[in-house]
Amino acid sequence: MSYEVVRTTGDSEWFTNDRFGLFIHWGLYSLGARHEWLQSRERMSPEAYSKYFKRFEPDLYDPELWAKLASDAGMKYFVVTTKHHEGFCLWDSKLTDYKATNTPAGRDLLRPMVDAFRHRNMKVGFYHSLIDWHHPHYTVDPKHPLRFEPNFIAESAQRDFSLYREYLFGQTKELLTEFGKVDMMFYDFSFPAENDLPGKGKADWGSEELVRMIRGLQSHILLNDRLQIGGDITTPEQYIPSKWVQVGGKRVVWETCHTFSGSWGYHREEDTWKSVDVLVKMLIDVVSKGGNLLLNVGPTGRGEFDERAIDRLKGIGEWMKRHSRSIYGCTQAPESFECPPDCRLTYNEQTNRMYLHVYSWPFKNIHLRGFAGKVEYAQLLNDASEIRFKEGFVSSGIEEGAFREGRDDTTLTLSLPVKQPNVAVPVIELFLK
Ligand code: GLC
Repeated sequence: MSYEVVRTTGDSEWFTNDRFGLFIHWGLYSLGARHEWLQSRERMSPEAYSKYFKRFEPDLYDPELWAKLASDAGMKYFVVTTKHHEGFCLWDSKLTDYKATNTPAGRDLLRPMVDAFRHRNMKVGFYHSLIDWHHPHYTVDPKHPLRFEPNFIAESAQRDFSLYREYLFGQTKELLTEFGKVDMMFYDFSFPAENDLPGKGKADWGSEELVRMIRGLQSHILLNDRLQIGGDITTPEQYIPSKWVQVGGKRVVWETCHTFSGSWGYHREEDTWKSVDVLVKMLIDVVSKGGNLLLNVGPTGRGEFDERAIDRLKGIGEWMKRHSRSIYGCTQAPESFECPPDCRLTYNEQTNRMYLHVYSWPFKNIHLRGFAGKVEYAQLLNDASEIRFKEGFVSSGIEEGAFREGRDDTTLTLSLPVKQPNVAVPVIELFLK
């Protein structure tokens, strides 16, 4: 019954089983607290931006607590910004001074994070920015903070980008040799020319060779698709695709990443926080189309998760505690089962169970076309209470044939309680024959 999905080079088995991960954007921009792109948006010089480097002191940083919050929310892996576009490194890289050890933090912040998440059996992913606004040989482009500075553009012409490429390779090597098994690398990103300034892509990064090196170091690793040469995982950002993501007409392994609100880095004033209900529905939606959800937290400059993020994580965890069975190991339902209005289906091939997620609780009945004769038992997932059902055409008792309500012989009709169970999204577990 399963779908044919383009095979990945790296190991994606854990990934398509786990479905739900935590993205972490943490760096100097956390102090600016107004978006991780602030250096570029405000066209700040390295000197001006250095005020954050001097003040980065996450005294409340507690990676064990971070890992616990993520794990309790039902997340199974994490992906952290080892370096974002600003160029600042969370680990003690031998190849730069622009790193956490040289800030008031005075220590490697990545290692304890990796240890803490691994301790909770979570897989390890590194986001690594291809873009770098600090390196002395990174050249001007349409994203660069100094893109409008004639002096910088002139200076940039003297830069030797191959030295930056070496740095990218060198740092990748550090990340893949000094932290044990890394399950995923998330490179970010390639982009086209704009306003007479050249873009950057595979030739600049040396993508083909970079991937060869990575595979030589850790062959199982899952790679995202932003190096401009394809990848194991396709990564739509900040939207939910309308169906299973395809590349070249074929279904692929995919993951969509999202913020809780409009910024990846900690943003004090941004206020479009999604509700727990919306977030739970996003997760369900994604799994019902065969994908993964990577949900982002931007910790504060003191090293804590934003209290609004904690609130959402706990809410998701409440739901996951009773409903994760409809997420882990699940994927899109086979097409012979029709999804009724206001619902989402997920399916676990191993256990042969179908999960009906009810977004809008109806009055008493849900009619499931294509399900008659296929279901052995049904229950609400939150409390394992039986849901009784009838199959095929059910007479209304008034006038034969007058009131079929669209039911045909393939229809299975669930008899629901009038009152909705007190959970974000109720799920009915259908044990298939
Ligand atoms: C975009 C942004 C970046 C963020 C990323 C997450 O590429 O540039 O700030 O890290 O999306 O996927």
